[in-house]
Formats: sequence, structure tokens, C-alpha cells
Amino acid sequence: MSGQDSSLPPSTIAELHELASRYPQARSALLPMLHLIQSSVGCVTNEGIELCAQILDISAAEVSGVSTFYTMYKRRPVGDYHVGVCTNTLCAVMGGDLIFDRLKDHLEVGNDETTEDGKISLEHIECNAACDYAPVMMVNWEFFDNQTPESAVDVVDDLRAGKKVCASRGATIATWREAERVLAGFEDGRADEGPAAGEASLAGLRIAKDKGWAAPDFETPRSSVSPPSTDSKTEAVQKADTSRAESETVDEESKK
Ligand code: FES
Repeated sequence: MSGQDSSLPPSTIAELHELASRYPQARSALLPMLHLIQSSVGCVTNEGIELCAQILDISAAEVSGVSTFYTMYKRRPVGDYHVGVCTNTLCAVMGGDLIFDRLKDHLEVGNDETTEDGKISLEHIECNAACDYAPVMMVNWEFFDNQTPESAVDVVDDLRAGKKVCASRGATIATWREAERVLAGFEDGRADEGPAAGEASLAGLRIAKDKGWAAPDFETPRSSVSPPSTDSKTEAVQKADTSRAESETVDEESKK
């Protein structure tokens, strides 16, 4: 964090306490608290870990364990725009590997590195549950569907140039820190900006509607489920008795 003040400001500390008070079990607030720290100072700092532990009355080791387990938490600052390229199986065969390699060359960075101007960081990421739009890329956790090496380069160039960039299914791209604040649970009023669902997802819905398919009705109370008939119970008991008798016969035979 060279050249930047990494200490948490009083306003962030107050909001960390506020997050902890939102949950019946305060420790449930740990994930959003870590996002808030990233929003405030750019990454999860040692001071942030200690403070979370103190507020939630848990150990610093527990906080550290969580913050190093999930890849969305960073121990070093990332760029203003964190670009994740899915290189998991389906995206990889559809071109994800090519996109990642092209961006590495274009940005002159390796995996988990940030461009010299601090604008773009690059990371290869695992499946984002958007395989129907493979290969996908994410910028600050917003989806960019059906990418090519050329379209990916256009996106990062536009971001570096300060142009407005819109996600395929989601809002206009904000900075990493702004996005982290939303993940911490502080809305920015843009939840409904941009398309919410893409054609590939809606196609499945359309087929289900055409065929009259629906999810099972889980509202049906258990008491309304008919108990097995007396006849079927008798049949089950008889089968169990027969099989027990057969196994006893086998035991007796083996003792002779
Ligand atoms: S493999 Fe890339 S989103 Fe699933």
C-alpha cells in the first residue's frame, strides 16, 4: 500500500460496528465487514483483521482464516478495475484461456498482478455459474458474456480511458472500491440498472412455460401426504419376515 494511508478512518470503524449489529449473531457480519474494509482501504489489512476480531469477539486467526479462504478477499490492493477471466473447463474450451493470455500480453501483467497505472488487475477465476454465456469475464464482479480476446481488450482499454462501460447483465461498471461497498451491504441505488437476465437463461424459462413445467409445490403440508395403505404395510412386513427367515436358515446351515 505504498504511498497510501491504509489506516481505517473513524467513519469505516463506525460502519463496521453497524454491520455487526445487523445480525442476531454478530459473527455473521464477518463477510460484509471484510468487504467494507476492502472498500475503505483497498484490501484486507492486519489492522482490519484485528478490528473485526475485536468487534466480533473472535480470534484474529479466525478472521484471517476466513479472509484467506475466499478469493474475493485481497491482502494486497488490486486495480480500480479487477478483471477476472474464467478459465474453468467450459469457458476454457470456449476461449477463456485465449482471452486470459491475450489480456496478459496486452496489459503486460501476470496472474494476480496490477498494471503500472493501478487501473487494471488481472486474475484467472473459477466457474462463475454463467457457463451458458461462456467464455465469461468479470469486471468488479459484473458479468461480461460471450467474450472474445478482441472484445476483452476493448473492455479493458475503455476502462483505462475512463469511458463508460456497461456489463452484459448488470449495472455500469463502478470502481473496485465502490463495488466492494455494495457487497458490504451499503446500497448505491443502482441495483436495477441494466439487464438482469440474458437470452440463454430466459430460453430455459420459455421452454418450461411452453411445456407447462413448474417447480414442485413445497408448500403442501406434510399432514396432507397420504400414509401408506394397510395392505402395502402388511406386504412390507411379510417381505421383511421372509428375508429374516432366509438369512437365519443360511446361518444355521453354515454352523453344521
Ligand atoms: S466454466 Fe466459466 S462460468 Fe462456468
